[in-house]
Amino acid sequence: MKLFSIVGARPQFIKIAPICRAIASQNEDSQVLDDVIIHTGQHYDPSMSDIFFDELNIPKADFHLGVGSGAHGAQTGLMLQKLEELMLSQKPDMVVIYGDTNSTVAGALAAAKLHIPIAHIEAGLRSFNRKMPEEVNRIVADHISDMLLAPTPTAISNLKKENLAERTIYSGDIMHDAVIYNCKLAEEKSSILKDLSLAKKDYAIVTIHRAENTDDTERLESILTSLNEIAEDGLQLVFPIHPRTKKTISAQFPDWKPSAKLNMIEPVGYLDMLQLVGNARVALTDSGGLQKETFFLNCPCITLRDETEWVETVDGGGNIVTGVNKDKIIEAVTYWINKTEKEDVDFTAQASKAFGEGNSADRIIQAILDY
Ligand code: UD1
Ligand code: UDP
Repeated sequence: MKLFSIVGARPQFIKIAPICRAIASQNEDSQVLDDVIIHTGQHYDPSMSDIFFDELNIPKADFHLGVGSGAHGAQTGLMLQKLEELMLSQKPDMVVIYGDTNSTVAGALAAAKLHIPIAHIEAGLRSFNRKMPEEVNRIVADHISDMLLAPTPTAISNLKKENLAERTIYSGDIMHDAVIYNCKLAEEKSSILKDLSLAKKDYAIVTIHRAENTDDTERLESILTSLNEIAEDGLQLVFPIHPRTKKTISAQFPDWKPSAKLNMIEPVGYLDMLQLVGNARVALTDSGGLQKETFFLNCPCITLRDETEWVETVDGGGNIVTGVNKDKIIEAVTYWINKTEKEDVDFTAQASKAFGEGNSADRIIQAILDY
């Protein structure tokens, strides 16, 4: 059976790694699955792409479409055109798509029009905010996919409400697999804490890249002001900066200076990131993946968005959604600092209950074989 796995953006490289391992183990005795990896080229800086293939032993992409950056229509359109050509020449039996990026929706559209069955990993997520490009991508991808692999009970319930229950299968969360598999490895291999002179539980990790925060000058300004104020109040902050955010800050706030305790660094690899998250006192982020990883690694999270799809992290007591209001952000930081001074937080039981035991890749591959 020939699978086409379509990836293109950083979180998708992390999500495909456990799937590649599950396929390799399935193929141990005889080759049942021929997994063809297609990299759309949506992310292309070495620190946003190659580093993950190297670190996570992901086989080199069989096809690299080199699409690069662009406006949504141009980028998605070019992917669609190139994916269609490739699907016509390579004739896959099934297309596997991951998450909610433009690479996801392009893969779904190309396959659906050619009547190729589609498996959507991380189906059913909803923020109920259609201004998010990811929300549009998810809704389209879910409605034209054949197998909806849902990571959480909430995702299952969202799909049911859209009359998609028949195509839905609970898989657990593939990023939980990735964290469980790599966190020991990260401890052994990553020297990031030493390199950045960080003491455990004595700093905050920050990531920002979401369009609603980077493309809205007022929101971005509020975030930057909050970060500087938190740093000036004495908490060390480490901020591996997404290229989108770096470019926007240079363009919109050329005179802005980070405070001495706000350390802006280039994007890091996954193992370094696991170390940074696992040992942070608190995380401030608008990333989907980070909200889950903080929960898996017992790091209190503050989500700089107005809503979240990952409601289990909030219900499980690990995540406070503040939006970008400075007072609310600082209040949440103070809450977590005070709480963790008195007790260690532990979200692991809640994490397994909501996101599975870290065996989603095997469940997904079995579901694909059954299909
Ligand atoms: C994309 C996804 C988002 C996901 C994020 C993960 C969409 C619509 N968005 O957002 O859901 O959370 O990836 O990180 O698919 N750039 C570089 N180098 C790179 C990649 C990007 O400089 O290797 C810059 C370019 O200026 C580009 C901008 O970042 O225009 C945005 O990149 P893009 O892939 O369009 O969106 P992301 O914000 O990365
Ligand atoms: N990540 C990383 N290095 C970084 C920032 C993030 O390895 O410098 C990882 C992070 O640990 C998570 C994934 O990238 O596994 C999340 O990707 P991102 O925040 O770009 O996208 P999202 O999850 O919001 O779609």
